[in-house]
Amino acid sequence: MRIPPEVEALLRARAQEGTLNLYVYDTRVMRRKIAHLNAIMPAGVEVFYAMKANPHPSFLRAARVAGAAGIEIASLGEAERALAAGFSPSQLIYTGPGKRPEELRWAVRAGIRTLHVESLTEAHRLARICAALGSQQDVLLRINANFDIHDAQTTFSGGSKKFGVDQEKLDQVLPALLALPGLNFRGLHVYAASGVLDVRDLLKNCELVFEMAADIEARYAHARCDLIDFGGGFGVDYLERGRDFDPLAYAKGLQGLIDRFGFAGRTFFLELGRYLAADSGWFCTEILDIKESRGKKQVICAGGINHFRRPAALAINHPLAIVRMGRKALFAGQECVRYEHVYFGGPLCTGADKLANDVHVAEADVGDIAVFGLAGAYGLTMSNIEFLSHPRPEEVVLA
Ligand SMILES: Cc1ncc(COP(=O)(O)O)c(C=O)c1O
Repeated sequence: MRIPPEVEALLRARAQEGTLNLYVYDTRVMRRKIAHLNAIMPAGVEVFYAMKANPHPSFLRAARVAGAAGIEIASLGEAERALAAGFSPSQLIYTGPGKRPEELRWAVRAGIRTLHVESLTEAHRLARICAALGSQQDVLLRINANFDIHDAQTTFSGGSKKFGVDQEKLDQVLPALLALPGLNFRGLHVYAASGVLDVRDLLKNCELVFEMAADIEARYAHARCDLIDFGGGFGVDYLERGRDFDPLAYAKGLQGLIDRFGFAGRTFFLELGRYLAADSGWFCTEILDIKESRGKKQVICAGGINHFRRPAALAINHPLAIVRMGRKALFAGQECVRYEHVYFGGPLCTGADKLANDVHVAEADVGDIAVFGLAGAYGLTMSNIEFLSHPRPEEVVLA
């Protein structure tokens, strides 16, 4: 991994101020990606930022400035942050299982764009709220489709899932939902998988969802799927294999499907998190110790899974580079790393505190800075921040 010169310069300056442990964000790439997607996607496609990837205000601002259609939220807390960043309620779409009644009430009152219903219980709860408020709410029905994407890092449909309603139960759930006053059925939400690099896999999902929508419309006179949400899922190349997701191939494939199904004029949501945010952030942490333990080198950093849990949670190594600081050894014979495979961890009192496993490093010494790339998405936001009460890492915004 190549560290951008601005990031390295910042780290060298900050390293003089005390133990270095921070995130650096530069959202210029994210802004370019949103503008590019807006330019190449078929008519009717709207790109939302799934802020769970990184709720930092600089990412929300980047999404707004670059022309994202809005924000996919999964809680009232996220809604508040999106509004604070300048989005309006009508730019919010709300997904996620287990929405609290207070959150549903807030969403209906505020006038969010669509609420994505995840179960019949939630639909009934929402209907009561709409009745009490005398309001109508546009809804999508989230489906747990019965197909699987094998290449994906995480799957959100197929098998037994807490997301949405099983596809096989559609004929029980849809008529019940259509009969509920207050809910305007607008279409489907089917989010198959996250971290997908092969465009064909996500296009297969789109095709199956279109088939589902056509089937629903053929069988239910009053159900029209004007709005279809494909969720997120565009992957990034964590393993640096040169397999980047190809948005242009996706756009062309989707256009072909829209034409084939005669779905022009409809609206299609993409709720992208990782693809937009990952390469706009780096987790940078000082190496405090290096030790040899029974044949393996353990490199101990100032921050661990309390600040960057994703590698341990998903058992993958992120791209890694070392900023060499040239610090003097504290004593003769102090351990160092020279062209070998080593293990990185943080200061936490758990063996689970791993930042990288069996990763090849050319040179590293105590006092150097380990820089983990593609950390702009699902970095601090999915970490065990409270564990061991270490100070929260600073989030430094370059642009
Ligand atoms: C409902 C929903 N939409 C969008 C996303 C964003 O997915 P990704 O980061 O893979 O684009 C997620 C991620 O978990 C999600 O749960």
